[in-house]
Amino acid sequence: MNVVILAAGMGKRMQSALPKVLHPLAGKPLLRHVIDTARGLSPQKLCVIYGHGGAAVPEMVATVAESTGSMIDTALQEPQLGTGHAVMQALPQLDDDQPTIVLYGDVPLTTIDTLRRLVEAAGSDKLGILTVEQANPFGLGRIVREDGKIVRIVEEKDATEAERAIKEINSGIMAIPTPHLKKWLAALSNTNAQGEYYLTDIVAQAVADGVPVVSSQPSGEWEVAGVNSKVQLAELERRHQLNIAHALLERGVTLMDPARIDVRGELICGRDVTIDVGCVFEGRVELADGVRIGAHCVLVNATVAVGTNIKPFCHIEDATIGAASQIGPYARLRPGTALGEDVHIGNFVEVKNSTVAAHSKANHLAYVGDATIGSRVNIGAGVITCNYDGANKFRTVIEDDVFVGSDTQLIAPVTVGKGATLAAGTTLTKDAPAGKLTISRSKQVTIENWKRPVKIKK
Ligand code: UD1
Ligand code: MG
Repeated sequence: MNVVILAAGMGKRMQSALPKVLHPLAGKPLLRHVIDTARGLSPQKLCVIYGHGGAAVPEMVATVAESTGSMIDTALQEPQLGTGHAVMQALPQLDDDQPTIVLYGDVPLTTIDTLRRLVEAAGSDKLGILTVEQANPFGLGRIVREDGKIVRIVEEKDATEAERAIKEINSGIMAIPTPHLKKWLAALSNTNAQGEYYLTDIVAQAVADGVPVVSSQPSGEWEVAGVNSKVQLAELERRHQLNIAHALLERGVTLMDPARIDVRGELICGRDVTIDVGCVFEGRVELADGVRIGAHCVLVNATVAVGTNIKPFCHIEDATIGAASQIGPYARLRPGTALGEDVHIGNFVEVKNSTVAAHSKANHLAYVGDATIGSRVNIGAGVITCNYDGANKFRTVIEDDVFVGSDTQLIAPVTVGKGATLAAGTTLTKDAPAGKLTISRSKQVTIENWKRPVKIKK
């Protein structure tokens, strides 16, 4: 089939410099949702009609085409003279032997199943329209039927009182036999209330030509809901998140509140995963069996192994976490963090570009950056790996079974040998030998007969 996505409208009501179809829903531009759904139908031709927003829309389309290895054409519609005029811009790209599906770039949540049903209903020789009964159809095109058969679509602004009472609306999504589409578009006129070339006028032409007009319906009204304002964008975001939450619940994930989770990417969960309220997942996040995520955590491109407990208020990005570990509360794992099994990273500990092997612990207030840490290492409170001299970054190596006392600074590059102990308060500037106590600390003295100063009376 051919798929044409209409995305030339300007979206004035978004009150934004960004073209409407580039506004994100679940972290992904609206148009990208539609392109991804269209790609799911494996179309022979896919063409996006753009107008407003300069090069931003075709640039985004080119990026998607490149990253997915698919052919996506774009065509400029300038000026924008209506939905029929928009589809005309795609005509040179369309293959006559295949039906053409028209989608809207600002209607992000239509499912592939719904589109397949429409395509099936239309076959190769019928005009198919995706319609829905709406309690409040205001502003939308109405489906006019006679003896149950669709005879035309009338726009709100052109409709009579009686037609405005019709609740069945045109979603705008259609499947059309391509040779007919070409003929009908050529015959469109713009003598209507808006002075536009309406794609919807092809319906009456189909009826006149004896081409059967059929309809199919989506499983939910939200599937055909468009975004014209930030209010509608926010409503669809919530709807989409609720759909994701329900899918997670169906697969056995425990969500403390399905209305308080945000997945902006792909969240893959094993068995018996529990997620508390207010968590955000971005990119690809994998949670293995028995993982628990506490309230208000943000996880971006992360992998968490079996049985690990992430306590509340953690920020985790581009990190892998081993099994049976304890993270947080208030931990920050930055890109390049790889933690082994049974690792404890506690409150106000930041880890970056570092590996921490099994059974090691940094429980309080530490910075571990550009470090390689062995097994069973204890990092005390307030420890800092000083990895940056203002110009370059250097590594710290801490071998197995090391004890790093509180408030120690390790000035990289530096290595702490296996089983070494660093005394509290040490500023380590040279390698510390294995198995020994290393200490750098000024001697403690007590001044006899010293008196506190007293306030001088004026
Ligand atoms: C259109 C339909 C209406 C339907 C409604 C569903 C027509 C004449 N009317 O109405 O029956 O109920 O959608 O939302 O088709 N676009 C372009 N170029 C243009 C005009 C529009 O690319 O010149 C794109 C828009 O970016 C948008 C889509 O087409 O993605 C629909 O445009 P919109 O202005 O919202 O159409 P409506 O008049 O609301
Ligand atoms: Mg609209």
